[in-house]
Amino acid sequence: MLASADRVFTAPQTGPQPSPRSDVEIYQMWEIFKAVNARVKAGGEVVNLLVGEPTLPPPQAAIAAAQKALGSGRQLGYTEALGIMPLREGIAGLYRRRHGLDIPASRVAATIGTSSGFMLAFLACFSAGDTVAVVEPSYPAYRGTLKALDLIPYRVATDAATRFQVTPAMIASLPPQVKGIVVASPANPTGTMLSATELRAIYEACRLHGLWLIVDELYHGVTYDQPADTILSAGDDAVVINGFSKYWGMTGWRLGWLVLPERLVPRIEALHGSLQISAPTLSQLAGVAALSADEELQPRVLAYKRNRDALLAALPRLGITRFAPPDGAFYLYADIGDFSDDSVAFCKRMLEETGVVTAPGVDFDTADGRRFLRFSFCMDASVVDEAIRRLEPWFRSLNRR
Ligand SMILES: Cc1ncc(COP(=O)(O)O)c(C=O)c1O
Repeated sequence: MLASADRVFTAPQTGPQPSPRSDVEIYQMWEIFKAVNARVKAGGEVVNLLVGEPTLPPPQAAIAAAQKALGSGRQLGYTEALGIMPLREGIAGLYRRRHGLDIPASRVAATIGTSSGFMLAFLACFSAGDTVAVVEPSYPAYRGTLKALDLIPYRVATDAATRFQVTPAMIASLPPQVKGIVVASPANPTGTMLSATELRAIYEACRLHGLWLIVDELYHGVTYDQPADTILSAGDDAVVINGFSKYWGMTGWRLGWLVLPERLVPRIEALHGSLQISAPTLSQLAGVAALSADEELQPRVLAYKRNRDALLAALPRLGITRFAPPDGAFYLYADIGDFSDDSVAFCKRMLEETGVVTAPGVDFDTADGRRFLRFSFCMDASVVDEAIRRLEPWFRSLNRR
């Protein structure tokens, strides 16, 4: 006879099945992670240009604020659904400081990372079954989140000719079933940015065609030759998504924000209250303090810039000549089509033969990503230099297709 625990935990062979909408793509990057882990387990070295996660700790002021809150013995319970006012006001102040814009704190909502910001924004803007345009290459979770919400991602193909960014002409030629578009500046995996003029033209095109415009500005602050412009300079009728994960290096604190058109505020408040209650209280308190940490964070951006410049100088020596130089973020998206049309296999081989690991393009672009790699450069300069040192002779030894 079976023990009762066995009976309880034996998975049924038949019965209710998972929903089709939960069948989101698994990133190929996880396959590469597995290969990395296997290599490390076998005692091998890995020079990691794979992940997009800053390696330095959060700003001192954020840590101090969190320690103070913990030490106070206060309850740290839920907050209001839209977040604590000092955080929402601090974020409004950021737009004043960075862009000279007066955004009322009432239009700012604190979220659980930008990831929850996307979910809330998509729920507030679209109905099940709607089609939403997604620029490709782009951060793969846009597609996964849309699919999980029963929305249909519509691929807008871009290439180096427009620096992998959408143009107003592309927006004008979207099919009529498209209800909105997701854009990022600076973007992942390309690091390219939209200028104020381009943002304004995109904003106007979306208004003309009655589309929701959702702009991921998570990499604001991590820019090299000039600061990023915000879509909010073009007007109030776009949804801005941002957060503390990248410039502030606070990925695990799970803190993001939305800047919303007035008419979405009550919807987001209700949705957040129902779905997540509030963003983590400790992180919100730390976030308020992090907003004044520019002095500590600026040298980090300079270090990323130095890594970007080292990669930009090295890639032609590797025989990689087709890429759009990144304006921000900490990624470079390179066309390796001369060497391979299978970026996953190429990444695995590169890891095996050099120890250097990058992300395969297929996660970011469902059609053309097989001939691209994403190099991440948010790590220490010594890691980037070592990768270059190993990759130069290796690429030179490869046969061109
Ligand atoms: C462009 C972009 N948006 C959003 C995210 C999600 O970040 P988080 O949920 O930590 O804010 C990432 C993470 O890498 C990203 O690259």
